Amino acid sequence: MSLQLLFLLLSLSFLLSPSSPLPYPYNTSFHIDCGGLTPSTDSYNISWLPDKFFTGGSTAVVSEPLHFHLQHEKTLRFFPLSFGKKNCYNIPLPPGRYYVRTFTVYDNYDGKSHSPSFDASVEGTLVFSWRSPWAEDLARDGAYSDLFAFVKDGQLDFCFYSIATDPPVIGSLQVVQIDPLSYNSPQTGDSYILVNYGRISPGSSQWGPGFSSDPDPFGRSWQSDSNYRTANSESARIITTKEKIKGAEQAPNYFPMKLYQSAVTNDGALEYGLEVDAKLDYLVWFHFAEIDSTVNKAGERVFDVLVNHKNVSRVDIFKQVGSFAAYTLNYTEKNLSNSVLNVKLVPVVGAPLISGLENYAMVPADLSTLPEQVIAMKALKDSLRVPDRMGWNGDPCAPTDWDAWEGVTCHANKNGTGLFITQIDLGSQGLKGYISEQISLLSNLINLNLSSNSLEGTLPTGLGQKSLAKLDLSNNQFSGSIPESLTSSNLQLVRLNNNLLEGRVPEELYSVGVHGGTIDLSGNKGLCGVPPLPDCPLFWENGHLSKGGKIAIGLSCFIFVSLLLLVIYIFCIRRGKNDYDFGLPSDLMSLAAKRNRYQRQKSLMLLEMESQHAKGLPSLPLNPH
Ligand SMILES: *[C@@H]1O[C@H](CO)[C@@H](O)[C@H](O)[C@H]1NC(C)=O
Ligand SMILES: *[C@@H]1O[C@H](CO)[C@@H](O)[C@H](O)[C@H]1NC(C)=O
Ligand SMILES: *[C@@H]1O[C@H](CO)[C@@H](O)[C@H](O)[C@H]1NC(C)=O
Ligand SMILES: *[C@@H]1O[C@H](CO)[C@@H](O)[C@H](O)[C@H]1NC(C)=O
Ligand SMILES: *[C@@H]1O[C@H](CO)[C@@H](O)[C@H](O)[C@H]1NC(C)=O
Ligand SMILES: *[C@@H]1O[C@H](CO)[C@@H](O)[C@H](O)[C@H]1NC(C)=O
Ligand SMILES: *[C@@H]1O[C@H](CO)[C@@H](O)[C@H](O)[C@H]1NC(C)=O
Repeated sequence: MSLQLLFLLLSLSFLLSPSSPLPYPYNTSFHIDCGGLTPSTDSYNISWLPDKFFTGGSTAVVSEPLHFHLQHEKTLRFFPLSFGKKNCYNIPLPPGRYYVRTFTVYDNYDGKSHSPSFDASVEGTLVFSWRSPWAEDLARDGAYSDLFAFVKDGQLDFCFYSIATDPPVIGSLQVVQIDPLSYNSPQTGDSYILVNYGRISPGSSQWGPGFSSDPDPFGRSWQSDSNYRTANSESARIITTKEKIKGAEQAPNYFPMKLYQSAVTNDGALEYGLEVDAKLDYLVWFHFAEIDSTVNKAGERVFDVLVNHKNVSRVDIFKQVGSFAAYTLNYTEKNLSNSVLNVKLVPVVGAPLISGLENYAMVPADLSTLPEQVIAMKALKDSLRVPDRMGWNGDPCAPTDWDAWEGVTCHANKNGTGLFITQIDLGSQGLKGYISEQISLLSNLINLNLSSNSLEGTLPTGLGQKSLAKLDLSNNQFSGSIPESLTSSNLQLVRLNNNLLEGRVPEELYSVGVHGGTIDLSGNKGLCGVPPLPDCPLFWENGHLSKGGKIAIGLSCFIFVSLLLLVIYIFCIRRGKNDYDFGLPSDLMSLAAKRNRYQRQKSLMLLEMESQHAKGLPSLPLNPH
């Protein structure tokens, strides 16, 4: 793949550079040109894939393509409501940590002069919200947004959610594997998503992938600081160097050397304001390097770093790492209540100096649907052939800020570790499939309504989980028998009317009606066994022998065999002892007649002889054979 080529080139350029760090060990990346039809390589040697991995939507082109200099910025994918409220890119990836970057643009591609409102999520956690109307430059020029996220399940789910019927839109999507230990994850764990709220490189204009050919193995791009510096530090000066910087480009963060080769300094305090969304924790990274060769011992440049007017640290770069060496600090601002994060460098000795500043919102991973429930819902999506317009994409329940899949209701489990499905309401949706056996995995399902569709096949044997209270499958073409499993003691409503069901109705199901619930089994020609349905044909039930039938047949077999044995006994064994005192049944007479005539005659003879014997005649042997 040409992406690997890119990384090879990056690694080569590192090897050629004097600091020669280890080659970047992560090799998975995707650069998707959303809406693009052909592969392309841009002027920064990034290879773009034609659009793939999306769940739906349509393609479009910005209204003024010449205004955009990169091909992937000109084409876009949008998700009209006919593809549902929720759509995703599902990218297969090895588990790991990833840099995810989107390019979002409107540029009136649809001619409606209405920039859309929509949300975006990563791995089921809400990360970006776009609200109409967008700032004019954003709508026209587009914007890059990025974050770091862990992907644990082998697939990155990047999903969009339409607000107020607006179609979400995306220009490009990039995913680059990064070091899992980067940005303090050993301390913070792997359940936070770090959303970029400012990554600036004081003393440079915007650089990094998409803006310049300067490499950054993570794919980070760095902005100029001029828009973030507050009014009282406008006299700030830029310092740059071409000297090699020690300690840059090291694992796990691989901060590029270029970052430390420029800096901004000021005679007074140096102050930055970064816009944030309140009520989150923010992870702030500071980058310093002493690149002024006139500062050559400790204590010549000393300043305090303040975040929102709190003293975070006193910095003496030379004292820490010497000259031309990278020095980083990080700080977590908890539970921010302002809408601006203020960073101030206050001089103690000499002028403060800064080379880089990053600010990330630490977005805690949202709850997600329990894995076996996801398996069940994906199986149902396929088996019920849920149409695109219902937007059954991504996690069935998450993010919790969004509605679940259309027609689906979810709840959090008691210990707050996951989400499960309690209701599926898909009545009258024109569904044409069948119910997957996997529905038995929905162990918290209370209410299932699939009425008035064209569903067929048999009812799965796993249907009837303990939780089930309401089941409406009326007006479909379900066939076969009602499964014995359908005996949940919680069932209050069962409507199976107007299907093609047959066979005996389970007694327990019938008792729903007896106990004050609602049950409707009408309009199934083949059901039997409970009032007011007809009696089931004797010994015949659900297309096979009933239990009673089997017993009856067993019993009759037993009786038949017994009778047969008795007959054999009487014919062969008993008669061996005494051939003469048995009168044959008339129907066996013809068969036995020939043989027995002789014996009869003999018996008559015997009687005669006996009488003759009695008259003094010699006796004959009694055995006729
Ligand atoms: C990518 O890296 C993994 C280990 O991190 C390695 O097993 C795999 O072979 C590499 N793939 C390529 C194409 O270099
Ligand atoms: C892109 O890669 C080619 C070789 O594949 C090289 O000749 C060219 O200089 C590279 N361009 C940039 C901007 O790095
Ligand atoms: C700020 O905090 C550092 C310790 O982190 C301390 O050495 C320094 O004196 C503090 N500055 C002020 C002005 O209090
Ligand atoms: C970031 O800050 C934490 C806590 O202050 C510290 O343990 C860690 O070493 C710092 N990381 C770097 C790379 O400076
Ligand atoms: C965050 O701040 C709000 C008020 O701004 C407070 O009500 C809440 O308890 C704080 N949360 C934490 C975890 O400190
Ligand atoms: C939370 O409850 C589920 C059952 O609903 C259980 O499987 C899981 O182990 C529990 N987790 C914790 C952290 O208690
Ligand atoms: C099931 O959905 C249909 C709409 O298609 C509705 O008429 C019916 O009342 C629902 N059944 C139950 C039990 O709520």
